[in-house]
Formats: sequence, C-alpha cells, structure tokens
Amino acid sequence: MPTQVLFKNEEHANYLLEDSTHGKFGYSNQHLIIHNERAMLLDPDGHKVYPYANGELSARMPRHRIEYVFLSHRDPDLLVSPDAWLAISEVQALLTNTWLDFILHFGMDGVTSDRITSIPHEGMTLHLGGSPLMILPTQFLASGTNFQIYDPISKILYSGDLGASAGIGYTIVEDFNDHIQYMRGFHQNYLASNKSFKLWAKMARQFEIDMIAPQHGAILTKKTHVSAFIDWVENLPSGVDLEDQVNKLPV
Ligand SMILES: [Fe+2]
Repeated sequence: MPTQVLFKNEEHANYLLEDSTHGKFGYSNQHLIIHNERAMLLDPDGHKVYPYANGELSARMPRHRIEYVFLSHRDPDLLVSPDAWLAISEVQALLTNTWLDFILHFGMDGVTSDRITSIPHEGMTLHLGGSPLMILPTQFLASGTNFQIYDPISKILYSGDLGASAGIGYTIVEDFNDHIQYMRGFHQNYLASNKSFKLWAKMARQFEIDMIAPQHGAILTKKTHVSAFIDWVENLPSGVDLEDQVNKLPV
C-alpha cells in the first residue's frame, strides 16, 4: 500500500505508512513525523512489517536521521521490531519503564536496550529537529501505562489504539456515522472503561486537533469528525462498564 502524506510544509512532514499486511495483522498503521530532516517512527509493528517500513524510510532519508522510535504501549504489534531498528541505526526508543520487562521478551538485550529512553508516567515534551512533540499520558487506553502524541505543527493527534477501526477498505473516514460500526467493537473489547474515555475527552478538548491518526484503521482528517469522535467516545460504555460480560462463570 502507498505511503500517504497527511501534512507537509517546508520543514515538517507527517506520513502514513499504510498497513502493508492487508489486514492480516490487525490493520496496523505506522506513522512517520519528520522535522528539519529528523524523523520519529511511531509504533513500528513486528518483523514482518519491518522490511517494508525500513524501505519506506530509506527512500526518504538516511538512517542516521531517524532519531526516535516511539512505543505507545505494551502490545506486540509495536514491541516486536524495535530491536531491529536499534540494531541498524543509532535511534533512541521511547518507552515507559513499566513495559521494559515486556520488550526484553522480544529478543532485546543489552546491546540495544541501552538506547531505550524512559517516558515518565506524567508524559513529556520532546524536541524533534527543534519541533516540540507532546507525549501525553493516556493511561488505560489501551494499556495501563499508555501514551499518545500531539504534534502542534500538523495538529495531528496520534491516538494509538484509541480511534482504532477494523474490517474496512478505506484509509480516510468519509462518513463518520457509518464508520462507528467499525470502531465500536475494538473500543469496547480492548479499552478499559467509559471513565478513561471521559478523562481523555476532557484532555483532548484542550488542544486544537485537525486530525486523529490511530495505530489501526482509518484516519479522521476532518475537524468535524474529530469533535464527533470525542463526543461519541465520551459517552461510550466499554470494558468493565459492560458488567454482563465481566466476571461471569461460563455456562
Ligand atoms: Fe494497537
């Protein structure tokens, strides 16, 4: 699938590396942020996706300009390939200490794990080529310690598993109301509770967001869709809210 430009000006670019597995591994997107020829790769998926993502990056810049690989949470669809990225470049991986023990199970050792920079629990502002990127604490969306990235230049919110959709044949959301059916199951099965959505919505309304770019499925590129999504998810019961699905003995 082709790489798409989500935003571009003279010094800043945001690329979507569309799912190269045609949905076989859960419709995973990789995202790339470039500022002043310095790059950050977000949630790089596993070793089957790695050759494709590496090829797409190499076509745009030399490897030594990839400064960061950002790891938003603990899932294998992003923790499997960082060892390879760290082995072929001088990149720093950004990961909370909470999940450090998990990534070691994917083959990482002292050769590469020394270049993991810990994201503090309360998040941080990072500078990429001089441009600030806000790493936002979004705990329990999806894992207990979890982060999203807000890019104030493109005004894109990289939302990780929040906003994810599955089973679709498009990259950009055109009809938000129709799109809800493809998001609902993911949000209710993977994400903790409505309280976590409400806390996120309160935080998200403090930013001017032009796009929401999740790790899975289609991108919300219209501001009207961004606010519709915030309103929708704020009122969605999920996870432990669905009491009839929790802690019941099997029949
Ligand atoms: Fe994910």
